[in-house]
Amino acid sequence: MNSRTQVGIVGAGPAGLLLSHLLHRAGIDSVVLESRSRDDVEGTIRAGVLEQGTVDLLKATGVGERLQQEGFRHEGIYLRFDGEDHRIDFPALTNGKAVTVYAQHEVIKDLVKARIDSGSDIRFQVSSVTVHDVQSEQPSIRYRDESGTSHEISCDFVAGCDGTQGVCRPSIPAGVLTAYEKIYPFGWFGILCEAPPSSDELIYALHDRGFALVSTRSPTVQRMYCQVGPADRVDNWSDEVDPADRADNWSDDRIWEEFRLRLATADGWVPKEGRIFHKVIVGMRSFVTEPMQFGRLFLAGDAAHVVPPTGAKGLNLAVADVRLLGEALIEQYRTGRNETLDAYSATALKRIWKAQRFSWWMTSMLHRFPGGDAFQYRVQLAELEYVTGSTVAAAALAENYVGLPFQ
Ligand code: FAD
Ligand code: PHB
Repeated sequence: MNSRTQVGIVGAGPAGLLLSHLLHRAGIDSVVLESRSRDDVEGTIRAGVLEQGTVDLLKATGVGERLQQEGFRHEGIYLRFDGEDHRIDFPALTNGKAVTVYAQHEVIKDLVKARIDSGSDIRFQVSSVTVHDVQSEQPSIRYRDESGTSHEISCDFVAGCDGTQGVCRPSIPAGVLTAYEKIYPFGWFGILCEAPPSSDELIYALHDRGFALVSTRSPTVQRMYCQVGPADRVDNWSDEVDPADRADNWSDDRIWEEFRLRLATADGWVPKEGRIFHKVIVGMRSFVTEPMQFGRLFLAGDAAHVVPPTGAKGLNLAVADVRLLGEALIEQYRTGRNETLDAYSATALKRIWKAQRFSWWMTSMLHRFPGGDAFQYRVQLAELEYVTGSTVAAAALAENYVGLPFQ
């Protein structure tokens, strides 16, 4: 079965859905193809921290209503080391900016609803997606629907928003892209639990036993992470690993004991405990592919780059990419001029590399490295002392955490 659209989008993550939304607002047609079911896409637990610019964009384009009501504005974070908290005050250091804690799957629900309410075309549970003729003026995407029927969509442009395991990047011929990658020798064990918040703001902790993070989702659900590995690594280390095969390694008692140890303060702080109902191990890597374009195929979000989660940048980078790509496509359709679209990859990569640097730096400062000696640990503590003790150093952290300007 053949059909036509202006922009064919592969992937209904934050990148693909938001791009479709931005294009729709400018009167440009798109079809979003997604391999998973709507329930699966809306139920996957991932990121939680939205930069100021991400929040502003979602609000300005009409998908920020629930975010505004249910999201939590956080005006700082705590860096906890040597058993003490040191607060980074975002508004004071960034001219009033802050972040909002609002789960990625809630953003996804808002975007899917907006797409469906406006009659847009999202096709879930597709398979065998392939992209064709992206170096011509008439690229196409082929796929099978749920019943196995083959389809072909011809389009003007293809947006590869299909994340780390997608098909768009691998469809680009060998030799076109350059990949830059750094794999960290540890991962994060993440939990969701039923408990009241342990802290009014996120706590990033460095302890002799490794990193720990206290985050939140709601007044009754909390998100916490601790550094694991390399002993906890599994053979097939990917970005998200089901830790079921290591449930024995990580009993609930062991998880809470680890959090209590790593988060201990001089005045006896302990996390508020509750039933753990979700566990995940996340691999840690930095990855960038250049360029983010091949002919009329444009990559955005995790399809083009991955950051370790310590800087809370992944979702926000996906949003920044499609903001830029959306603007460039809109300009192309309105004026017929290609300059902004041709500059998309170079423009996006400038900001992406800054977010890579920040994510790498936060990760390096806050984790114990296997084989890391006492000298390295003392230097990490000195760096934390410096970052929290110097207004300019604290401002550099704050400015990156709330999000650098888009351009
Ligand atoms: P994805 O969300 O991966 O979406 C890609 C979509 O494409 C998926 O729905 C997938 O099913 C679909 N797809 C893949 N292949 C195909 C195919 N062949 N055909 C059709 N569809 C396909 N980021 C932050 O900013 N802040 C945080 O606090 C944060 N915390 C995180 C915590 C965890 C535990 C994890 C795992 C990630 C975290 N991130 C965070 C990163 C963030 O979740 C990702 O960067 C973000 O999801 C990227 O969005 P995306 O749209 O590019 O890709
Ligand atoms: C989260 O709440 O999931 C979260 C928060 C901060 C991070 C990463 C993840 O740096």
